[in-house]
Amino acid sequence: MGLSVKAECVAVAINDGAVAVSMTLKRAMIFLGPPGAGKGTQASVAAKRCGVPHLSTGDMLRDAVTRGTELGRLAKPIMERGELVPDNIVMGMVEERLAQLDCAGGFIFDGFPRTVPQAEQLDTILERRGFGKPLVIEFFVSYDTLVKRVSGRWTCSVGGETYNIYERAPKVPGICDVDGGKLIQRSDDSAEIVKERLAAYERKTKPLAEYYRKHGVLETVDGSKSVEEVSRALSEIFARAAGRDGHL
Ligand code: AP5
Repeated sequence: MGLSVKAECVAVAINDGAVAVSMTLKRAMIFLGPPGAGKGTQASVAAKRCGVPHLSTGDMLRDAVTRGTELGRLAKPIMERGELVPDNIVMGMVEERLAQLDCAGGFIFDGFPRTVPQAEQLDTILERRGFGKPLVIEFFVSYDTLVKRVSGRWTCSVGGETYNIYERAPKVPGICDVDGGKLIQRSDDSAEIVKERLAAYERKTKPLAEYYRKHGVLETVDGSKSVEEVSRALSEIFARAAGRDGHL
């Protein structure tokens, strides 16, 4: 059953022959891009379509903050400043998550890795777990659009659905269309902190594109297009990868 569900993530874009190729599945996907690039929006759609978990280290950290765990207490002030949480904390959290059964057939990372040391350690983990090279997709969006998207973001406090007051507004202001939950704003989405987060991205995360380009696994997508257009472009990338590597 898992296989046929996952085959759907390429079925939207390619013919029957390529879908058959996609039946051997064991893939780590990485959505790389600055705050507001649309990684979370697209990872959520693609993960559902592919039947694999959507792994957002930002969500994991926010969950730890909400639950008031030791990790959460450590991460909270760092996240509120718009800086990156230390690699060792993030790696421990990721290793623990990857050990869970639902990750055995593949997963989509959103916001991880974020530094070259995280990427190097991930390579070792993937090898140990029998995965091949990841498929990395870098999202490009202009600086002004990123700031506007992040400052306009509202998220459902119940199901996590994401909205944007400028482009994807809920039908009723402040209320989730899907489950009626209250919409809230992230504490690090203020214009001032967003600039810090974008600077941290340029300094520490941007070099990852070169790291993955050298490994021959980097694809790019124009993230400034509509959600549906970006989604279609991603399906085409998945289809190409499935055809090229013999699996998605
Ligand atoms: P994290 O939660 O990962 O945030 P981020 O990377 O800054 O990314 P965002 O969630 O802001 O943006 P996104 O690209 O997912 O965009 P989205 O789809 O939501 O990290 C938060 C913090 O945690 C970090 O600052 C750091 O402190 C810490 N952290 C996390 N991971 C870490 C790691 N690995 N190492 C160290 N520290 C770590 O979309 C944004 C808005 O735009 C939404 O309103 C959406 O509706 C809208 N939108 C999306 N796509 C489109 C579109 N195509 N057109 C129009 N609007 C769109």
